[in-house]
Amino acid sequence: MDIFLLDDEHKLIREAAREFARKEIAPKAKEIDANGRFPTEIIAQLGSMGFMGMMIPEQYGGAGMDTLSYVIAMEEIAAGCASTSVIMSVNNSLVCSPIVSYGSEAQKKKYLTSLAKGEKLGCFALSEPSSGSDAASLRTVARREGDHYIINGSKNFITNGREADTCVLFATLDMTKGHKAVCAFILEKGMPGYSVGKLEDKLGICGSSTAQMHFDNVKVPVENLIGVEGQGFRIALSTLDGGRVGIAAQALGIAAAAHEAAKKFAREREAFGAPIAKLQGIQWHIADMATRLDAARLLTWRAAVKRDSGERYSREAAMAKLYASEMAMWLTTKAIQVHGGYGYIKEYPVERHFRDAKITEIYEGTSEIQRLVIGSSELAD
Ligand code: CAA
Repeated sequence: MDIFLLDDEHKLIREAAREFARKEIAPKAKEIDANGRFPTEIIAQLGSMGFMGMMIPEQYGGAGMDTLSYVIAMEEIAAGCASTSVIMSVNNSLVCSPIVSYGSEAQKKKYLTSLAKGEKLGCFALSEPSSGSDAASLRTVARREGDHYIINGSKNFITNGREADTCVLFATLDMTKGHKAVCAFILEKGMPGYSVGKLEDKLGICGSSTAQMHFDNVKVPVENLIGVEGQGFRIALSTLDGGRVGIAAQALGIAAAAHEAAKKFAREREAFGAPIAKLQGIQWHIADMATRLDAARLLTWRAAVKRDSGERYSREAAMAKLYASEMAMWLTTKAIQVHGGYGYIKEYPVERHFRDAKITEIYEGTSEIQRLVIGSSELAD
């Protein structure tokens, strides 16, 4: 099904990602989830395949691909294992992209190649214990001292926080100045005062780490400021526009895997003398799932193509994430229903898909924030 008439290059990327996800990732997904195991070996393989820095230009060691390629690959990897896909998504969208778009030549040369190859991993430190949706109210402070900034504060819910070597961090120069004083920095694991705190015990995406991070008088060289002072909030929000397209694709992959599982079960399970796939009640569930999956895919691909056009795509990204994440939650619930009691037990994958789907309605901007972004754009003059 090629609703968008993918060109040969996009089809090849989809095939490569699908084959790798089905052979190497999906068979391990249950164990990764059950043990809360970070999939080190899979991330290394994704790095060597070019999937950890898909949109990084080739001159900096990346794959030099477009956003459509990225979301196509993301859907397939997420269908294999949602935990793996969020690790990949954060590295690509939230860490590599702001360095590509706003970083200095020296930052690009220093950081991008190892991130693209999967030799190093990145995290994006914006959220704090008392600032999530209201991102501009952050309290992590940066103070300029000579040729360094001194950073103090704590971050919360940081995906990849435990493993990250490179941290894109947001801090304010002056808490009274709101978003206009926010700056973006590149920090490195091992800088004195940089530490990882509590790890969260979660409902889903159990193979990825979600950490508190603490910054105690961390001395960051001025050359690690991304862009200019006060540009940090725009960097954060424009980066999140891209991140939201990636999370839409993640939600799509989780939902597609649940849809496949529901179809397989419906063909195999017999009731009333025939496979339940023969029952109209089941067929209607499967039909609604297929229709909503395609709708979410179209929104996600549209947002990806608009990103590549260079135009502002905040509204399209928000629509894709809102629809795809709510669709994934709806679809995984239905997939459990098609399985009946078997859907509720861990022997079948749909309970994992259901748990993994929930976070897509929350991270990188809740559904309420996406509605706010879409609503403001609709009502702007
Ligand atoms: N791109 C570039 N600039 C943008 C922008 C965008 N998408 N959106 C807003 N801006 C600019 C505005 O133009 C404005 O700039 P000026 O003052 O120069 O005109 C500035 O940013 C402030 O804009 P707003 O007044 O609209 O900002 P706000 O404070 O009202 O916040 C918001 C808007 C939509 C609520 C925003 O704060 C938001 O998206 N919050 C959610 C944060 C979020 O997604 N957090 C997720 C955490 S990261 C995560 O989950 C990572 C993980 O580990 C998986």
